[in-house]
Amino acid sequence: MDSTGASQTSAETALSVGWIGLGSMGLAMAMNVQKHLKATGAPSLHYWNRTISKGKELGELGGIACEHAADVPRQCDITFISLSDDKTLTHIANSIATLGPSLSGKILVDTTTVHPSTTTAISTQLSALGASYIGAPVFGSTPVAAAGQVLIAIAGPEPALSTIAPLLRGVIARGVLRAGPDPAQALLLKTTSNMLTAGLTYLVAEAHTLAEKSGLPASVLEDLIEQNLGRGRGAPEQLGARD
Ligand SMILES: NC(=O)c1ccc[n+]([C@@H]2O[C@H](COP(=O)([O-])OP(=O)(O)OC[C@H]3O[C@@H](n4cnc5c(N)ncnc54)[C@H](OP(=O)(O)O)[C@@H]3O)[C@@H](O)[C@H]2O)c1
Repeated sequence: MDSTGASQTSAETALSVGWIGLGSMGLAMAMNVQKHLKATGAPSLHYWNRTISKGKELGELGGIACEHAADVPRQCDITFISLSDDKTLTHIANSIATLGPSLSGKILVDTTTVHPSTTTAISTQLSALGASYIGAPVFGSTPVAAAGQVLIAIAGPEPALSTIAPLLRGVIARGVLRAGPDPAQALLLKTTSNMLTAGLTYLVAEAHTLAEKSGLPASVLEDLIEQNLGRGRGAPEQLGARD
């Protein structure tokens, strides 16, 4: 790895990369991966989405569309997943599981926000077939993802965590948090983060109520929050972000 932590990619490891799920987050992150693969001379990203037309931009960049979700891990060593929820992820995981023992040695990186117990069920199912399953929820909104600046928490087995590292920092993420060896641990961190964001949002609302009732202009409180607690001062940068 070079000083940016991002230059050693599948070009050197000869691993092929794929992406399942091109929603607002998935497409933004997949575009950054494909740009990176292209820039480093690595094989193009294979992708699948239920609404395949959403991959048009990715296709124009050299991405290769697949007909079925399971075609992605069938053809790729590393498959990223970004789907809407637990039910959809479970449905797609079941179709991936039909690949059976041919999943041996494959790496699946799930960036979907789901219940930790869903992650445990799916990682157990796919690990039994020989795959390495990584829980990898992301922190940040769609514009942040488009800028390659999400935070990503990863948890799962080594060496898969190290194998995917060159595709994370400097490609889709500004930072990587290693949450542990159990994939569900990354989702526990995500849940904890959502609790923190909700709690802090509630506190800010209470502070505004206090300011209003005591005659303090809201703009002064907002200046204080921005200048004393805002970006770079320890407070969450994305108060109010969806996830
Ligand atoms: N948006 C954010 O700010 C944000 C931030 C952090 C984390 N997240 C998490 O990231 C994940 C993706 O979020 P998103 O905002 O990108 O969601 P989204 O735009 O709603 O995209 C959802 C994806 O799931 C697919 N999907 C939904 N139902 C399906 C089904 N029955 N079968 C197959 N595919 C199906 C969609 O396919 P189609 O394109 O065909 O509909 C699309 O690819 C979620 O878990 C979310 O909680 C989101």
